[in-house]
Amino acid sequence: MAKAKTIFFCSNCGASAPKWLGKCPQCGEWNTYQEELIQKETTGEERRKSWAAPGKSEGPRAILLKQIETGTTIRLATPDEELNRVLGGGIVPGSLVLIGGQPGIGKSTLLLQVAMQLPAKILYVSGEESEEQIKMRADRIGIFKSECYILTETNSSKMLSMAQDLQPQLLIVDSIQTLSSPHIESTPGSISQVRECAGELLRFAKETNIPVFLIGHINKEGEIAGPKLLEHIVDCVLQFEGDRHNTYRILRTLKNRFGSTDEMGIYQMQSAGLREVSNPSELLLSQKDEELSGSAVAATMEGMRPMLIEAQALVSKAVFGTPQRSATGFDMRRLSMLLAVLEKRCGYFFSINDVFLNIAGGIRVDDPAIDLSIVAALISSLLDVSIPSNICFAGEVGLSGEIRAVNRVEQRIQEADRLGFKAIYVSKYGMKGVDPGRFGIRVMTLGKVEELKNLLFT
Ligand code: TYD
Ligand code: MG
Repeated sequence: MAKAKTIFFCSNCGASAPKWLGKCPQCGEWNTYQEELIQKETTGEERRKSWAAPGKSEGPRAILLKQIETGTTIRLATPDEELNRVLGGGIVPGSLVLIGGQPGIGKSTLLLQVAMQLPAKILYVSGEESEEQIKMRADRIGIFKSECYILTETNSSKMLSMAQDLQPQLLIVDSIQTLSSPHIESTPGSISQVRECAGELLRFAKETNIPVFLIGHINKEGEIAGPKLLEHIVDCVLQFEGDRHNTYRILRTLKNRFGSTDEMGIYQMQSAGLREVSNPSELLLSQKDEELSGSAVAATMEGMRPMLIEAQALVSKAVFGTPQRSATGFDMRRLSMLLAVLEKRCGYFFSINDVFLNIAGGIRVDDPAIDLSIVAALISSLLDVSIPSNICFAGEVGLSGEIRAVNRVEQRIQEADRLGFKAIYVSKYGMKGVDPGRFGIRVMTLGKVEELKNLLFT
């Protein structure tokens, strides 16, 4: 009988140590080590033998890279265009995809929807909900187009043998935290269990060429082993995020071995499941009739897709000593930087004011091209002068107040034109090789933030 042994794992990065450590030497996090029971299976000697004397004829063989034949991989395109985009053009056979997100964000709904609408044979394994609960959810979502089997099981071996018998075209597992492997003694959701089950699923996917979708919860305390630990194992990590009080949900790629990580998919949670938002600009611009001060529209890019988003700023007299700074959907430090540029270069003083910044639609924007619209919104609110609603901006603001060029400026201009904007303000440095006369929209070029002041606020 092998001896039971315990090992300490870091719940953040998965590093292991024979004793408890306060600080993880690998990732530097504090208080993340947890004890886990593992079954010691083989001795060092047995392991050494396993590779020291291989049979000449059997065993794996290395092949020359140039001799490997690539059949054109046919991706399984889902009816969900947003998901296809995020995956890089459909599901790759034999891939293991992890979808992470906070509880209640809509992960189960998203995958059940795929399971119902992809015209193929699908096995949906749930360790979280009963068959009736899943059926009730399916009834809310609506039409069945697939041959979808439901299995409620938490034992990974039983689940995989069922999948082996059924030979589905897609296996969905909800969730990795509820699975447990009979080969390991620790409780479901523990780090070694999560790692073992993910390993088994990876082997299954690679051996059978059946793609596997895996749901993983993340929680703020980091108690349950989250997708961080699994990121190395899986081929693709998607994150489903959004504000629970808002109906928009965003599916982002954090890692993708088969495509770009810049893409994102946008959904709206409705009473009958998630609806794809294929034209986000129209929704992300807040709907209002009158022009108010403090709002400016930015022509941003998310991956390959241009998107017009509204930045809203509110600058008001601070009531208490220290003025407040608050930003939703935008980096706070970048906001402080932009405020400093405005003070130093344009003579607008915000130090006695509270500044609130909000990106409409509950979306987080990383594209630096949004800077110019934020600067415009801040000045507009400070002076209480509105910006015409048919104007938009695309430019990065540098520390000396210069407006820097942004990528794909043509696509941004085109999108603004298509949505009926009359003018777009861009950096004068980014217009090389672009003919502004070819667009219906007026293209205004700027070199410095000060010029914005003269053009819009005098
Ligand atoms: P769920 O998919 O269960 O979240 P997760 O698996 O990420 O924990 O989604 C739960 C939320 O979605 C719940 O608050 C109800 C809401 N919802 C809708 O608004 N419409 C629907 O059609 C469905 C099925 C769920
Ligand atoms: Mg769920």
